[in-house]
Amino acid sequence: VRALILVGGYGTRLRPLTLSRPKPLVEFANKPMLIHQLEALVEVGVTEVVLAVSYRAEEMEKGLSEEAKKLGVNLIFSHEDEPLGTAGPLALARNVLSKNDHPFFVLNADIICEFPFKEMISFHKNHGREGTICVTRVEEPSKYGVVVYKDKEEDEERGCITEFIEKPQEFVSNKINAGMYIFNASILKRIKLQPTSIEKEVFPEMAKESQLYAFELKGFWMDVGQPRDFLTGMCLYLSALRQKKSDKLTDRDGALGNVLIDPTAKIGQDCKIGPNVIIGPDVVIEDGVCIRRSTVLRGSVIKSHSWLDSCIIGWRCVIGRWVRLENNTVLGEDVIVKDEIYINGGQVLPHKSIASSVPEPKIIM
Ligand code: GDD
Ligand code: MG
Repeated sequence: VRALILVGGYGTRLRPLTLSRPKPLVEFANKPMLIHQLEALVEVGVTEVVLAVSYRAEEMEKGLSEEAKKLGVNLIFSHEDEPLGTAGPLALARNVLSKNDHPFFVLNADIICEFPFKEMISFHKNHGREGTICVTRVEEPSKYGVVVYKDKEEDEERGCITEFIEKPQEFVSNKINAGMYIFNASILKRIKLQPTSIEKEVFPEMAKESQLYAFELKGFWMDVGQPRDFLTGMCLYLSALRQKKSDKLTDRDGALGNVLIDPTAKIGQDCKIGPNVIIGPDVVIEDGVCIRRSTVLRGSVIKSHSWLDSCIIGWRCVIGRWVRLENNTVLGEDVIVKDEIYINGGQVLPHKSIASSVPEPKIIM
């Protein structure tokens, strides 16, 4: 079985983190986003994965080749000279994808859930049409692709998609495209080697021909491609770990609720870490620090008595004493925050030093 993962977007909505590395390599729960997907694919027997890259290809290769070797999966980098959108990359990888007649997976790289690949395969074989789209339900469907399908229990064609509308202006349904597909090789006949949106140009046509089926996702789902959603996705991911009674969750002193702490991180005395916190490798947290609903990436230092709520702290940042960060503040790589600073919803570009408070949300360049 093969898969193609779309990793070519610019990741602008996850700036400033994506100024330092491509979005699929940003760690979610202490693992690059893409590794979550690769692991789940390997588990269902995928041996060859095409990574459709349109820029920063070398970084991607460097960041992933070792991990791929460990997983025993063969990565094929398919490099676009110009961004080909979400469908064009399939045409570019035509030779690999059509090597045999097996259906293949296509994934967006920025989604997190309990990947139901095994169930998707049997669902796809069962309905026998050209494609399967995994769907989930959200509160705010306008930022996604909306899927309308036959969902009556007694309908013989239950699951058959009748309409696909990318980012609709008006409410149509709250069932949306979760960004995971299985296609038969015959889909390649529909796609030319040119910039093409699979959501706008290919799915509507397939829906019209009744060639697409909706597979309903169970459990949590999140597109973690922007800071607010990244943090919401983190909370959902952690509570799913709790439900599974995973031993990854920490039971260290000072940890409250669902917390993931890399074993190489150092935590001082009298800290309150949690609920909903992820601490990366080599992080140092000094005494009396409070952190809630945040991710701290590799190598950062948080000095004593600082207070963080709903933040993403980039790699190798240094946060002074008695600092207060909140409201979806995101620090890029190697940011220094001086003692006693307050930041409310700031997005701080890499390598900055912050010496005065930021009382209102803004981008700090
Ligand atoms: N290779 C390549 N080339 N990949 C691309 C390109 C390109 O030109 N443009 C985007 N991608 C990749 C992104 O890296 C990402 O993994 C995926 O395609 C989807 O792009 P996003 O920019 O994240 O799209 P979105 O989040 O606005 O919407 C998509 O995902 C939603 C679910 O999260 C759509 O598929 C929606 O229909 C869907 O609901
Ligand atoms: Mg996205």
